[in-house]
Amino acid sequence: MSKDTGNRLWGGRFTGASDPLMDLYNASLPYDQKMYKADLFGTKIYTAGLNKLGLINDEELKEIHRGLLVIEEEWEQNKFEEKPGDEDIHTANERRLGEIIGKHIAGKVHTGRSRNDQVACDMRIYVRENLSELSKILAQFIDTIIKRSKEEIDVLMPGYTHMQRAQPIRWSHLLSSYATYFVEDYKRLQQIISRVNSSPLGVGALAGHPYGIDREFLATELGFESIIGNSLTAVSDRDFVIEVLFWSTLFMNHISRFAEDFIIYSTAEFGFLKLSDAYSTGSSLMPQKKNPDSLELLRGKSGRVFGGLAGFLMAYKSVPSSYDKDLQEDKEPLFDALTTVEHSILIATGIISTMEINKEKMEGALTMDMLATDLADYLVRKGVPFRETHHISGECVRLAEELKLSGIDQLTMEQFTSIDERFGDDVKDVFSFEVSVERRTAIGGTAKSAVLKQLEALQSEISK
Ligand code: ARG
Repeated sequence: MSKDTGNRLWGGRFTGASDPLMDLYNASLPYDQKMYKADLFGTKIYTAGLNKLGLINDEELKEIHRGLLVIEEEWEQNKFEEKPGDEDIHTANERRLGEIIGKHIAGKVHTGRSRNDQVACDMRIYVRENLSELSKILAQFIDTIIKRSKEEIDVLMPGYTHMQRAQPIRWSHLLSSYATYFVEDYKRLQQIISRVNSSPLGVGALAGHPYGIDREFLATELGFESIIGNSLTAVSDRDFVIEVLFWSTLFMNHISRFAEDFIIYSTAEFGFLKLSDAYSTGSSLMPQKKNPDSLELLRGKSGRVFGGLAGFLMAYKSVPSSYDKDLQEDKEPLFDALTTVEHSILIATGIISTMEINKEKMEGALTMDMLATDLADYLVRKGVPFRETHHISGECVRLAEELKLSGIDQLTMEQFTSIDERFGDDVKDVFSFEVSVERRTAIGGTAKSAVLKQLEALQSEISK
């Protein structure tokens, strides 16, 4: 048991020893120090608010702001010295401020403030800034997909349902499908940033500010868009953390599904694409192997992000009104998710911009049976109801199989008309993959014009 109450800022009432493991258990400094800048910024503006109230004079304010700058430099240059009793970033910065400018002035910065509104404020500043950065790299990622889609617009490949060859599509159509998910993620992120960006500062520990601080002034100076309207909610609301974790989970799910496709397409069995060496690794035993580790990690890391969401959501559900220490459990999953998502976006961007596709393999995987629906559509255009044409086309597929032909296009005119006399010579025109995709011009389809329109719309969403 340690007798030393160290630099604990709330030590007055606590004279007894504490269990050193409890100190470790309680401390968040190892992981919340990354918010040092947000914390110093919050204190800078908060003390300006106290100055407006006459609780800190101009000289003192200058001293405080000078001290805060020194601390910021120390953090930036990795020179900040942690001391026993530095429980979290808030107490560490305040303790250091006292050493630099003297405890008399430093002792005033916390007037009317609690770590409860302080931590909520720091988190929101830290998170909104992180999300803005994520938003930028996400836009670049989407832009990379769009560029690639435009360049390779002429490449066709099988589209799959149930992982079975279904209908021909453009490769760009598939890329554009991923981009459509990621653009939704991008839009969702903007909405979340706006909800994160609401000020909790100036409510004290839970009941409100005793000196009538100007919360609007604090919010404006700190760059918040709005103010949380209830003091209890201000200190205890971590919905924004849940939202960011959920957003990250959903995004990682999208990334994971995209990675799964690419893993499959990069197998020798498919051979549609080849990752660049920069994003693959070899096997320690089998010299011939080139493994898509980057994609597997994108897929695998989706699990831990979801784990973080599930974990904190579980902790959050039973926290009573206002602040309870359970809320400190918001940080590790949140920070981990932000880093994981950031790295995943950068890796995925690298993969997309450096991989090679194999047009021959992609187009070589197209088979005539994939035009069976087009054959049914051919008769629809001659006025036959689709339910009937579906059956007729099925007959053609069956006959071609029975005759061991390489595809339905090999049936003779007599064989076609033996199944249905409404087949004419122009049936041969059906058997082109290019014609098939080019029929799909309606919004969202795989025709060149439709894909280009999708890409344009996606581009405009991220340029807003
Ligand atoms: N480190 C704490 C956290 O992250 C700061 C708030 C502490 N507040 C308190 N009343 N103990 O939640």
